[in-house]
Amino acid sequence: MAKTFYITTPIYYPSDKLHIGHSYCTVATDTMARYKRLRGYDVKFLTGTDEHGQKIERIANAQGVTPKEYVDKIVAGVKDLWKALDISYDQFIRTTDDYHVASVQKIFKQLYDQGDIYKSEYEGWYCTPCESFYTDTQLVDGKCPDCGREVERLKEESYFFRLSKYQDRLIKHIEEHPEFIQPQSRQNEMLNNFLRPGLEDLCVSRTTFKWGIPVTFDDKHIVYVWVDALSNYITALGYGSDDDSQFKKYWPADVHVVGKEIVRFHSIIWPAMLMALNLPLPKQVFGHGWLIIDGGKISKSKGNVVDPKFLVDRYGVDAIRYFLLREIAFGQDGNFTNEALIQRINSDLANDLGNLVSRTVGMIDKYFGGKLPADREATEFDASLTETAASVTAKVDELLDKMLFTDALTEIWTLIRRANKYVDETQPWILAKDETQKAKLANALYNLAEAIRIVSILIQPFMPRSPKKIWEQLGINDEAVLTWDSAKVWGSLPAEIVIKKGDVIFPRIDMKKELAELEAAMKEAQAASVTNQMKAAEESAEELAKEAVPEISIDDFDKVCLKVGTVVACEKMKGSKKLLKSQIKIGNETRQILSGIAPKYTPEDMVGKKVVVLTNLPPRKMMGEESNGMILVAEDENGELSIVSVDKSDFADGSSIS
Ligand code: ME8
Ligand code: MG
Repeated sequence: MAKTFYITTPIYYPSDKLHIGHSYCTVATDTMARYKRLRGYDVKFLTGTDEHGQKIERIANAQGVTPKEYVDKIVAGVKDLWKALDISYDQFIRTTDDYHVASVQKIFKQLYDQGDIYKSEYEGWYCTPCESFYTDTQLVDGKCPDCGREVERLKEESYFFRLSKYQDRLIKHIEEHPEFIQPQSRQNEMLNNFLRPGLEDLCVSRTTFKWGIPVTFDDKHIVYVWVDALSNYITALGYGSDDDSQFKKYWPADVHVVGKEIVRFHSIIWPAMLMALNLPLPKQVFGHGWLIIDGGKISKSKGNVVDPKFLVDRYGVDAIRYFLLREIAFGQDGNFTNEALIQRINSDLANDLGNLVSRTVGMIDKYFGGKLPADREATEFDASLTETAASVTAKVDELLDKMLFTDALTEIWTLIRRANKYVDETQPWILAKDETQKAKLANALYNLAEAIRIVSILIQPFMPRSPKKIWEQLGINDEAVLTWDSAKVWGSLPAEIVIKKGDVIFPRIDMKKELAELEAAMKEAQAASVTNQMKAAEESAEELAKEAVPEISIDDFDKVCLKVGTVVACEKMKGSKKLLKSQIKIGNETRQILSGIAPKYTPEDMVGKKVVVLTNLPPRKMMGEESNGMILVAEDENGELSIVSVDKSDFADGSSIS
């Protein structure tokens, strides 16, 4: 049976403003998942959305929708983005999913029953954007230590998790398992800044808002959103449900990939929760760095285009994924600029890789009519190329096992650059001039094709689309020579290959022109989406207009003649379920009025009532009976009716209303 590999991304806060930084974590995790699949592992890759919390409740309220309606809309956009980025997740969990809610409730109850959760009172600071509690000393200049925003003072009855109880066990675990928190620097940070100074018990319930998972045994309380969110890693596997076969198969997780600001939750709170539940801890928490955009972690673009969908549409998914993992060493922070992106596309993708492929295919086409002959003669330059290939393939495995994506790509590019150098060394265009050198020429081109084959296999975890294009051009369709392990065997490519010239895989971009056009292109793309938004707005305006009432002037209102009337007699209309026929005394006159109130009022209810009558309607006939005016009736959303009246029951009928 294949070895399992369970890898997760954080579950994202639903946001309609996902920027390229958000894609980073998920692209890295996807790369790892793809790599492990290629290595033959039974991989489970989990991602999802973290949908509860005060922040969501507030935004939804402000937009006049329910929190669920709000998140449903956003989650569709999140899934769309992952699709655009070719994210190969196996499961997408939403914390509003029933199975998750039920399992979290069970976990909370168990921890309470066994005394790991207890009731007390919380007083402290809360940062709503971060959904985090802080003590006085944790604040920085009175603001949230993570995001720098204002915090709120909270005092409420709360449940607490005995985090402090697990402090020593956590320290011991981290010390004994140096691989548990990666990179190393984050491990030191956790030990020195949080664990060794001492842990306080954690407030794990809230009562001041509603949008969360209710505590089953105390429904004033909802579960703290981080307890809810962290649990996703096991609820997704069916933990606490009737079918926990996946939990048995995949837990403990091999790695939780998370951004550096949430390492604390994953390497302290989460393991403590698992210890309390008597479950094994994840093997690793990997805290990656931030993509810095214009100096701030999540600052909006000032001239830089950071919309990941725009970037993917314009440059292609492989280029974006390559850039993210090549430019920023995994674990460290790095800058995002459009200039750096274009630079990478031009130098690494178009020049190094793209050129190698098109030159090789072009030469096989030109010198051999597209078909490489089997007859080959080795040259003195071959050894260095094959040695590079052997060392690169070995190192890439080692580096990817440690999630050192940048180093792995650098290695792969060593082989690409070595192959390009091999072209210069062997000078095929010189060999081609001499009939007696044909076997050497064939040898050079075979070796280049073989180097490309190896590269195309190695880049698969990073770039899901380009390898297929390369295989098509090189005419490789035997899966046996495309397996991960076959990259380690030089000479696997069949002797005779038939190439098929195709489009340039990575077109060069004119940097100056592109940078000049980028902003306009972004605006155009935004305008396109604004057009969509406007369409939607128009549609909903039309919807509203159907019900909307036009404004009237006071003169218009003066035309309306409303009078107080007394119902002196009332009966059901024969043959109608809806209509009552009332005789209404309005001062000196008595009128007959038919009204559709029979579902809610009986004739007995009506007799004696003071009503308000619209008197200057033209008489009309319904079911053969004349109706001379209209009784005013209020109707609520549920169709409940209430007759409009005057608040003094002895008020004289015939009185006018204005
Ligand atoms: O933290 N560069 O969700 P989230 C790199 N719901 N990574 C970035 C980034 C940037 N500029 N901006 C965001 C949450 N991220 C919680 C997780 S898990 C049980 C709950 C990363 O939507 C960030 O570091 O705020 C995090 O790993 C991920 O995007 C989701 O962030
Ligand atoms: Mg965040």
